[in-house]
Amino acid sequence: MGSSPSFTVEQLDARVQAASRARSWFVDPDRRRVSSEHDDRETVGSRELVVALCLQRLGREPRRILDVGCGAGELLESFARCVPDADLIGVDPAGEAVLAARERLASARAALVLHAGVEDLVVEPAVAIGSGLAVGAAVARRGIASDPETVVAGQVDLVVIHLCLALWQDPFGGLVTALETLAPGGLLYAVDLVRPESVAAVNDYLWLATHDDEREYLADQLIASFTVDELRVGAAGAVAEAIEALAGRGVVAGFEVEAGRGGLGGFAMGSIDARRLWADGDVRTVIQSLGEFSDAERRKADQVVHLWIRRVR
Ligand SMILES: C[S@@+](CC[C@H](N)C(=O)[O-])C[C@H]1O[C@@H](n2cnc3c(N)ncnc32)[C@H](O)[C@@H]1O
Repeated sequence: MGSSPSFTVEQLDARVQAASRARSWFVDPDRRRVSSEHDDRETVGSRELVVALCLQRLGREPRRILDVGCGAGELLESFARCVPDADLIGVDPAGEAVLAARERLASARAALVLHAGVEDLVVEPAVAIGSGLAVGAAVARRGIASDPETVVAGQVDLVVIHLCLALWQDPFGGLVTALETLAPGGLLYAVDLVRPESVAAVNDYLWLATHDDEREYLADQLIASFTVDELRVGAAGAVAEAIEALAGRGVVAGFEVEAGRGGLGGFAMGSIDARRLWADGDVRTVIQSLGEFSDAERRKADQVVHLWIRRVR
């Protein structure tokens, strides 16, 4: 466990600005072309792995999946293939991405893509279902209303946040919202770039860029990113806040937080968690399809941090 980082107002301000610059690569249509070209080339494998890792670690068939920052809906599409009975909810503030995601998911059994940032989500108190109270909280959308009740009706078994957390105005406030949507036993998985610790590490990341605009895009993402310790401390704070918010509604909740870098899903090779993941046929198939940890994939895998939060009660 790292010690609690203390920030000055200037540092916090700088973070908000860095997140806003990093976010502009997805919201501004011209810049979006650069980020999409890069991500379509470099993150396809990571998305497939996210699906396999989440399903293995959840350990049960998810009934409802929430993808915060769903982009053009590729992750949700993979989930629709693997768990066709799950309800899918995507959220993204980039209008172009939302349209693409809606089109991509048009044939999914139950998919709702909201044009909203995590900041626009509100968690509603538990809703009455049948004779009892729904244990989980539900998400409704503030502002541009379409059909929030579709979301309000249920609980979320799996929240995924893929390469997106550091783009939020208030990442750990957003995490509280996401945690409040989890059903007991539910799982939140966030994967994000980890802040490089040296110039060599920055260069090691920028080698993925094929032209100057892409280099600028990646540099902006790195400037906004967190260290593993910052993420761990921020997540612990978010968990405490979520527990308090749920307690205010009479719901007793508990969460377990794990954060790590490298290995398999952030778990050191040889650890029980990594061995369990490796024992899963789907996880192995994805990894084998990635060239069994080719040099490039291994370098990329070292540049991300994995955050797992399970609602244990
Ligand atoms: C690197 S892309 C990842 C997209 C998708 N998760 C994937 O893996 O394909 C980051 C996405 O986060 C979205 N995003 C940016 N700010 C956000 C916010 N405040 N709330 C939710 N999503 C956000 C962007 O619009 C963009 O689509």
